[in-house]
Amino acid sequence: MKKPWSGRFTEKTADIVEQFTESISFDRRLWKYDIEGSIAHAKMLAKQGIIPKRDADRIIKGLKEIYREIEDGRFKFREELEDIHMNIEAALIEKVGDIGGRLHTARSRNDQVALDIRLYLRTEVKEIISLLKNLETVLADMAEKYLAIIMPGYTHLQRAQPVLLSHHLMAYAQMFDRDRERFGDALNRINVLPLGSCALAGTTLPTDRHYVAELLGFDFISENSMDSVSDRDFLLEFLSCSSIFMMHTSRMAEELILWSSEEFSFIELPDAFTTGSSIMPQKKNPDVAELMRGKTGRVYGNLMSLLTTMKGLPLTYNRDMQEDKEPVFDTVDTVKLTLNALIQMLPKIKFNEKRMHDTAGEAFSTATDIAEYLVKKGIPFRTAHEITGRIVRYCIDNSKRLSDLSISEYKSFSNSIGSEIYKFIGTSESVNAKKSYGGTSPEMVREQIKRFRKRLR
Ligand code: ARG
Repeated sequence: MKKPWSGRFTEKTADIVEQFTESISFDRRLWKYDIEGSIAHAKMLAKQGIIPKRDADRIIKGLKEIYREIEDGRFKFREELEDIHMNIEAALIEKVGDIGGRLHTARSRNDQVALDIRLYLRTEVKEIISLLKNLETVLADMAEKYLAIIMPGYTHLQRAQPVLLSHHLMAYAQMFDRDRERFGDALNRINVLPLGSCALAGTTLPTDRHYVAELLGFDFISENSMDSVSDRDFLLEFLSCSSIFMMHTSRMAEELILWSSEEFSFIELPDAFTTGSSIMPQKKNPDVAELMRGKTGRVYGNLMSLLTTMKGLPLTYNRDMQEDKEPVFDTVDTVKLTLNALIQMLPKIKFNEKRMHDTAGEAFSTATDIAEYLVKKGIPFRTAHEITGRIVRYCIDNSKRLSDLSISEYKSFSNSIGSEIYKFIGTSESVNAKKSYGGTSPEMVREQIKRFRKRLR
């Protein structure tokens, strides 16, 4: 097969070079966008009188035929034609003859590949945003459903203060909401038309880039032809957003793994989302959650990979940049798969309400409430902290819980303590009283969910 660029060459490309330089094995994924971009380009060329309208019509018809052939799996992709752009162009010329060669007027593969990947990513990011929205809805629904469940809140993985399970779930909902916002923000910089920049310098031909932008639904047009063929930071931004999303997912996955252990026994994962052991018959393993945690490393790797590829590249296009695609494709697949698995798994988790509630009340988790009770009695917080610390020490030494102490025992630590102290050390009382904005009281969490749902709409 003759190469579209063979004119100045006398020797045939080495086989190893074809293997080494090809990208058709993975960039074929861009075929739809490549054709869509070419059709818009052909329309513009005809409108501007750069190519005859008749030829443009024939080209567009040919491109549409190729579209159907690829869709039906009848198209033969050829490695020796390197990439998706040349595969489609060669097929077009085969189909419509020499006039097919007019399509590449005022265009280069450099702006073409930038266009294709922007069109591709625009579609995928919109889908990721809509999946994130589903995930957020799932979490808000769960938060609403489990408003009565109290659990231990942790710092340093040590029981700290009782909280509502709903509050804990909503913490993740908030993270995923910021992720959605971040992807939406990245979309503004993805949605920029690079086509018309040509190889790097623009063209002497009277093109109309605004018309192409309009046809392809781009909100912005790149301002600098050199920047626009060598810029990949819109991809890096996508990979960063994805890495942060995966980091959030990994934290949640880690908690699900911990919570489903015998030691915590807070939850039971659905059978359909766990796997067994090939040797230990009793085992039920949280593999899905583990893989969510594990795949996070893979997405970080993709970000690192492209950052490293781009580092130190001189302007403008360099073939190194062909290495941008696999990390991006892999990330899109991983993020979508992870989101779909989360959306389906989360609502099926069973929570062990009694176990969560019981552990929430242990480990002096309401000691801070005693300190705040003393503050309300006029004692400076540092002093109140010290008094409460001594109460806890006393309980530890005498194997007692805070609720076991008699009022005279309490009074021996501070005369300001009255019998109403018992109202402040109960688990539910403690949670109910956290009425500060954004706090864990049912009242506040209900309001939080309400505001959250409003943002989701
Ligand atoms: N397959 C190439 C890529 O993905 C397309 C652009 C090639 N341009 C060039 N001048 N070799 O980056």
